[in-house]
Amino acid sequence: MRVPHDDGSGSGSGSGSPKRGRKPAAKVDSLVDGRAGTVDSRSDGRTPRSAPEIVLPGKPQVPERDLVTGARQGGEPEPPNLRPQRFSEYIGQAALKRKLEVFVRAARARGEPLDHTLLHGPPGLGKTTMAHILAHELGVKLHLTSGPAIEHKGVLAGHLTALGARDVLFIDEIHRLSPTVEESLYSAMEDRRIDLPVGEGTRARTIGFELAPFTLLGATTRTALLSGPLRDRFQILEGIEFYGDDELAAIVLRTAGLLGFAITPEAALEIGRRSRGTPRIANRLTRRVRDFAQVADEARAEMRRIEFVDANRALKELGIDEAGLDALDRRMLTMILDNFRGGPVGVDAIAASLGEPRDTLEGVVEPFLLQRGFLLRTHRGRMATVKAARHLNLELPPTAQAELDL
Ligand code: ADE
Repeated sequence: MRVPHDDGSGSGSGSGSPKRGRKPAAKVDSLVDGRAGTVDSRSDGRTPRSAPEIVLPGKPQVPERDLVTGARQGGEPEPPNLRPQRFSEYIGQAALKRKLEVFVRAARARGEPLDHTLLHGPPGLGKTTMAHILAHELGVKLHLTSGPAIEHKGVLAGHLTALGARDVLFIDEIHRLSPTVEESLYSAMEDRRIDLPVGEGTRARTIGFELAPFTLLGATTRTALLSGPLRDRFQILEGIEFYGDDELAAIVLRTAGLLGFAITPEAALEIGRRSRGTPRIANRLTRRVRDFAQVADEARAEMRRIEFVDANRALKELGIDEAGLDALDRRMLTMILDNFRGGPVGVDAIAASLGEPRDTLEGVVEPFLLQRGFLLRTHRGRMATVKAARHLNLELPPTAQAELDL
C-alpha cells in the first residue's frame, strides 16, 4: 500500500490523502539534500545503454545535456563517463562481483528488489560505482544521498516516499546518520513503513507511510562505527578490498582509452602500482601523468604514447614514492618514528601533531599503511614497522628492533 495511514496515536484519523501524504514530502525534502540525485537505469537489462541521466534536486529542471552543450558548442566532445555501468565493464573484485551478479539475477527473476545491501571498504574503491552498476543491472532507478545529508526524519521520508518499485536508495557514509534518522530507517527496512509526526500539541499524531518495495544500499568506510541494530538489518554485507597492481593497471588502460590517449602497459602498471590500491587514485594519477607528458612535449601537434619514463617522472613530481606513499603517508610514519620513538602512540596524539583530523587518518591514511605492513595497530596505539623505517631511511626505533628479534 502506498497510502499513508494514521497509527491512531493522536486525535486525527488519517486525514492525509494519499497524494497529499506522499508526493509533497518527497519533493520538498529532496531539495534539502544538495548531493542527492536520481539516476534512471531502467533498460531491457541486456542492451548497453548510454550513461543514465542524473537529476540533482535543487538544480533547474533543464536536462543536464542542455546545460553543458551551451559551453561546448562547436563540436567539442563531452568528457566521457569513466564509471563502468555494468558488471562486465567492472575490473577487479572478482569474488564480490560474482556474488552480486548472482543476487541480482535471482532478485530479477523473482521480480523482487535486491535485499538490503551494505558495502564497506576504504574510500575510492568503487562503492558508488557498484551502486550505479547494481541499479543498472537490476533495471531500476538509483537514488543517491549520504548520511550527513539526511539531516532529519523528514529528509529521509522524502527520499523513501520518492522510491518506485524495486528502486535502489544509496546512502553513502551511512555510519554518519543521526540516531533518530537511523531509527526511522529500521521500520522502512523491515516493514516498508515510515512513521512521521504531524501537528502539534493536542493535535499531534503520527502518520505512517507505506513504501514501495525497495533496496537500501548502504556504504561505509567505517563498519566499526555502524550500530549493531543497523548492521543486522542488512541481508547482504560485503567488503570491497584494495585492488591488485594488475587490476589497477587494467583500469588505467581503460581510462586512457576512454580519455583518448595511448599509454604503454609498463606505464599503466607503474601508475597502478603507485595508486595505493585505489581506482580513484589511479584515475587521478592517470590524468596528471597525461598533463606532464603533454606539457613536456608541447611542440608536438598530437599527444604521443605515454611511456614508463613519463609515468615515473610525473609520479616523482607529484610526490608519490616508489611504494605509492604520498606526502601525508610519509608525514604520519615519520612523525611516529621521529617523535614517538616508533610508537605505540594513540591516534589522537598523532592527529594533533600532524594537524590532521583523526577521521582522515583512520579512514583514509591508515587502511593502506596497515594493509601494506607500514603500520601496526595495537591495543596501546599505532606503531611504525621496520618496513616503514627502512622505506623512509630512518633509524630503527627500539620497538622495531624488538619486532626484528621476534
Ligand atoms: N573505474 C574506477 N573503478 C573501476 C573499475 N573497478 N573497473 C573499471 N573502471 C573503473
